[in-house]
Amino acid sequence: MAIISVLSQKGGTGKTTTVRTLTDLFGRVGLRVLAVDLDPQANLSDYLDVDPDASPTIGEVLQGAATVSEAIHGGVVPANLGLAEAELMLGGKLGRELTLKRALKHVAADYDVILIDCPPSLGLLTVNALVASDYALISAEAQYFAMQGVEQALQVIELARENLNPDLEWLGVLLNIVDLRTRHSREALDSLRRHYPEKVFDTPIRSSIAYAESAERALSIIDYRPDLAADYQAVGVELLRRVRMSAASQRLSSLLP
Ligand SMILES: Nc1ncnc2c1ncn2[C@@H]1O[C@H](COP(=O)(O)OP(=O)(O)O)[C@@H](O)[C@H]1O
Ligand SMILES: [Mg+2]
Repeated sequence: MAIISVLSQKGGTGKTTTVRTLTDLFGRVGLRVLAVDLDPQANLSDYLDVDPDASPTIGEVLQGAATVSEAIHGGVVPANLGLAEAELMLGGKLGRELTLKRALKHVAADYDVILIDCPPSLGLLTVNALVASDYALISAEAQYFAMQGVEQALQVIELARENLNPDLEWLGVLLNIVDLRTRHSREALDSLRRHYPEKVFDTPIRSSIAYAESAERALSIIDYRPDLAADYQAVGVELLRRVRMSAASQRLSSLLP
């Protein structure tokens, strides 16, 4: 099994859409997937259509008031604004970086993949995600400052690895929301490929308004625009290969026509 965090140093890089879409694709090839929303803004919970009043949530789990099993609602451990408070309370506790890892241990055996959607910062919640994970996937928006964002995320991955989770593996960087007709998208892709040759996922995720539309309609991009979802399919195939789940990777490669 693999626990994978999706992170970036800021918001709007497509993290939540990535977790949402991969959760869906992996489920469709028979993998047992758990999605964990670690962002107080709760976009993932919203995208995955969890009842906003669902309780308990990840905030209660991190405060020790609930187990992860109790906080799973339809394959998702949702978040809400209470997570911001839980993060503050966690800050004063011994072992604060290990809380999520300890909590997830009890359910890990029930899943093939656990995907963690990080908040748009590299603070204590993201560190908890990295400490709990086997792999870290960086999402980078194809903009002028993409490189700096990736470097900062890499530093936090390195810190987590040196101090708390030596087995953490950097899975790679996904170039997201890409419009190859624009020069800055092409430059961002080129410079990432130059700096991290083996690490950039082969397929960039194309920019399309269809992502916002499908989120609004609570539809999966896979059903709404299968032609665009082919990007995530290709990324998923590569990702599963990188985490050495080759049978599932093969199944995914033949999922969409
Ligand atoms: N490939 C894409 N093309 C265009 N818009 C996208 C794409 N992926 C996500 N978006 C939109 O960009 C915004 C931010 O995406 P989101 O996944 O929430 O990013 P993050 O979790 O990093 O903040 C959302 O409105 C989402 O619908
Ligand atoms: Mg998000």
